[in-house]
Amino acid sequence: MTGRPSRRQLFGYAGAAAAGAAVTGGVVALGNDTPETVVVARDIDPYGDHQPAIAAASPKHAELVALTLLPSTDKAALGRLMRLWTNDIVALSAGRPAPGDTAPELAVPGVALTVTVGFGPKVFTLPDLVKPRGFSEVPVMSHDRLQPAWSGGDLLVLVGADDAVSVVHAVRRLVADAAPFAKPLWRQTGFWNGTGADGQPVTGRNLFNQVDGTGNPAPGTPEFDSTVWSTDGWTTLVVRRIKLNLDAWDELTRSEQERAVGRKLSNGAPTTGTAEHDELDLEKRDADGRLVIAENAHSRLSHHSVNDGRRIFRKGLNYVQDDGATRESGLIFLSYQADLVGQFLPLLARLDAADALNEWTTTIGSAVFAIPPGFRSGTWLGQSLLA
Ligand code: HEM
Repeated sequence: MTGRPSRRQLFGYAGAAAAGAAVTGGVVALGNDTPETVVVARDIDPYGDHQPAIAAASPKHAELVALTLLPSTDKAALGRLMRLWTNDIVALSAGRPAPGDTAPELAVPGVALTVTVGFGPKVFTLPDLVKPRGFSEVPVMSHDRLQPAWSGGDLLVLVGADDAVSVVHAVRRLVADAAPFAKPLWRQTGFWNGTGADGQPVTGRNLFNQVDGTGNPAPGTPEFDSTVWSTDGWTTLVVRRIKLNLDAWDELTRSEQERAVGRKLSNGAPTTGTAEHDELDLEKRDADGRLVIAENAHSRLSHHSVNDGRRIFRKGLNYVQDDGATRESGLIFLSYQADLVGQFLPLLARLDAADALNEWTTTIGSAVFAIPPGFRSGTWLGQSLLA
């Protein structure tokens, strides 16, 4: 394809990539005359009913920081921190330096920077604070090998952007402003590629080479809204750090890898279908009478039709952790759901008991956060809880 891309092609990406989230800025840069080299820069509106990153496309780069509250941090102090963070988020999302920024030139627009803030279980033990319905810790599963280094936390900041420098800068500002109230407990850095070679949004792949995210409810649909948001605009987030044994996975044939999930590696289609978004046929049998999507296949066991309609909204981030010459690879598994107890826990228990993938995966970190609604001009993050 030659010639300049149409206006629709350009705006098509910005719009689709941020389904459910308002985008400001739009297209600011064009490459030469071929669409392949078009660069789309965008900012994501920090204001809204919900914190905007959740429904937006996965960022290319992300960092999560869990913090522990200092003993002196009470409800009023937490409210002060949330006002500070709200101002930081408004500035940083627009590519402006945060108040008191020591490296103002590192704040740049057009990188789709988002910040998501959450409250861990301890926050709801402070006097006068009421825990959102359906929010709880995740019990330790039989396959878990949890490490304190990646688990727990009283506060979460999750910063995402299409540029790693912007993520590091924003995290540094937010953590610095939190210093009188809370100190970092763990940090996790991840990455995701949700853009195809033609610049169009794609589902993206984890480091097992699987298309990961196909079965999610689509942002902007009633199914997404009822899966993710509680009636008062909160959601809950489960963060699981899952180590992937890539060397053992590599020993499998391609069809063994596909059988473990029940989806094709080429395009993520069910092994009973041809296109990525084809429905799974959980009844289909092969010539020998065996179920094509096996009893223990991951996509069968996690499918809403065999889980009393329970759904979750997953957003993975790949990670690597280097120790000298040794590399560990894995998935920072993020799951959003209105009701953690009612939606997430039964699914997790079912997968822990029987999932084929358990042979090549080990969960080494686990944390939960209640995510407050978004804010509008003149209001602040967490105001409904802390005011
Ligand atoms: C390392 C661990 C995991 C890997 C590599 C993995 C990978 C995948 C893949 C490749 C799919 C199929 C494509 C898709 O629909 O996205 C999938 C689907 C799914 N997974 Fe996982 N997953 C992991 C852990 C989990 C966990 C811990 C849960 C929940 C507790 C979960 C819940 C689901 C759900 C609900 C679906 C969609 C099923 C459907 O409706 O079709 N996964 N996963």
